Amino acid sequence: MTVADAIFSDPRLAAVYDTFDGERSDLDAYLALVDGWGARSVLDIGCGTGTFACLLAGRGVQVVGLDPAAASLDVARGKPHADAVTWLHGDVRSLPRLQVDVVTMTANVAQVFLADEEWAAALEGACAALRPGGRLVFESRRPERQAWREWTRERSCTRAVVPAVGPVETWVDVLDVRGDRISFRWTFRLERDGLELTSDSTLRFRSRAELTGSLTAAGFVVEDVRDAPDRPGAEWVFLARRPG
Ligand SMILES: C[S@@+](CC[C@H](N)C(=O)[O-])C[C@H]1O[C@@H](n2cnc3c(N)ncnc32)[C@H](O)[C@@H]1O
Repeated sequence: MTVADAIFSDPRLAAVYDTFDGERSDLDAYLALVDGWGARSVLDIGCGTGTFACLLAGRGVQVVGLDPAAASLDVARGKPHADAVTWLHGDVRSLPRLQVDVVTMTANVAQVFLADEEWAAALEGACAALRPGGRLVFESRRPERQAWREWTRERSCTRAVVPAVGPVETWVDVLDVRGDRISFRWTFRLERDGLELTSDSTLRFRSRAELTGSLTAAGFVVEDVRDAPDRPGAEWVFLARRPG
């Protein structure tokens, strides 16, 4: 069983995640694609706290939300329209037989798969869950932009009052840059409880050629590689199709 990072799997951190995750205008492009394709069913891999899954469910789309972090799924279950979503705890290996129109991985989920075998398994699982002709859409940060150079305590430090938790201060520090794997630590200071909690993560920054090659190897046809409209030049949005 995949173990997710503390920021997603520790109930105390999952409870504050959405407050620091902003307005989520990044999801508009995904919504437009799902609408444009006329999709009636979506599998959201790495659905986390379920923001996108619940948005889709509110529009009448049948949604399966999959995530290995039980604490994030618990947050998701409390959101409007959550009752209409099928929540699955686990990774692609735990998927039942599905034939969805679209598979999504929002918010750079694609970068959590560090080993090539793990990434290949995620893509193969996505392909198997799609009906013939169905689409996969995901984003990944462009490595040449070196986004981690901006992940400093000075630039990232934010404070907000989280409902039922109180004031929380958070910041990020990069721990290690090793080839295309970047390790970093989020710190959360929960002022009311006098607690300082940390969560360490590593993300893989694959090249466009690597992502294209891995999609083809998993059986997809790459239809388009676009800019994320809200982060021009910073991310690639891959649109791939399972051949019909
Ligand atoms: C940056 S969050 C994105 C969450 C959500 N997609 C969103 O837009 O808010 C990454 C998510 O990937 C999940 N994750 C980590 N490893 C995974 C795996 N092997 N399979 C599926 N999801 C995974 C984490 O638990 C976390 O919820």
